[in-house]
Amino acid sequence: MPSDHPRWTETENGKQEVLNLDLIKSGLSSSLFGVNIVYHTALGSTNDLAKDLALRGAPEGTVVVTEEQTAGKGRRGRSWLAPSKTNLLFSILLRPALSPNRVFSLTMALALAALEAIEGETGLSCMIKWPNDLYVGRRKLGGILTEFSIKDEQVDWVVLGLGLNVNWCPEQEKGVSGFPATSILAETRQRFSRNEMLVQILKRFESHHERLFSGGGGDLYRKWNEYSLVLGKEVVIEAEDKRTTGKAVRIDENGALILEDGSGRVHVITHGEVSLRLSSPPS
Ligand code: BTN
Repeated sequence: MPSDHPRWTETENGKQEVLNLDLIKSGLSSSLFGVNIVYHTALGSTNDLAKDLALRGAPEGTVVVTEEQTAGKGRRGRSWLAPSKTNLLFSILLRPALSPNRVFSLTMALALAALEAIEGETGLSCMIKWPNDLYVGRRKLGGILTEFSIKDEQVDWVVLGLGLNVNWCPEQEKGVSGFPATSILAETRQRFSRNEMLVQILKRFESHHERLFSGGGGDLYRKWNEYSLVLGKEVVIEAEDKRTTGKAVRIDENGALILEDGSGRVHVITHGEVSLRLSSPPS
């Protein structure tokens, strides 16, 4: 993207700030995530491109970002729809030395980084709805899709894809994933810079990521429990043909949900295969 690229453009969702690679790179000049940023005006899915790049040897810290996805993906085979130039759509490639059961601690670390960046930039408070959603009250503000590959029983690469509704008017759009949905604009009545938001999320994620691998994960673990929407609530977990109902007790260090059923049995629910419903909606 040339450096004189206009910072604002007219879209069907009104005037929007365009993503500017130079701005993003300068905000991340001393960061792992500023080294290899792949930007496309439009592409199928940032997760798919990041996975392709992983297979072709792209380095840890590669970030793929776009204004528009034509085949955006959500969890459990759902699609992720977002109008062009309004929301954040990006994926991060990592190559962590991690056993597969710990991968979802990275999802939690990204959710926490996004939540803190949103609060810091906009003053808006949101919560993490395990396993991968950001919520404001009853409405979904964003979601994370985590995909990974295993080699010799260790993680080979992980792609974390975040879709965050920023300057989008949910009332204008039908059929957007995660409905009922909300956005930062809908909650605050203000537009915010997606360039700055992306920089802030990646900076915070870098610091959380470092902590996870240097024995400082305890603080993160405490925070993702503190911001969790589901703890202490009755939840229903659906995984393939199995349904478990119980009380959400905590999210463990690996990002798994600890659930206690009616007979006092404790279940460790890993992130990948499940869908969670609150038996009563969040207040
Ligand atoms: C979910 O809530 O089901 C997860 C949604 C994840 C959407 C993001 S948008 C950027 C990245 N690329 C994709 O195709 N999906 C993720």
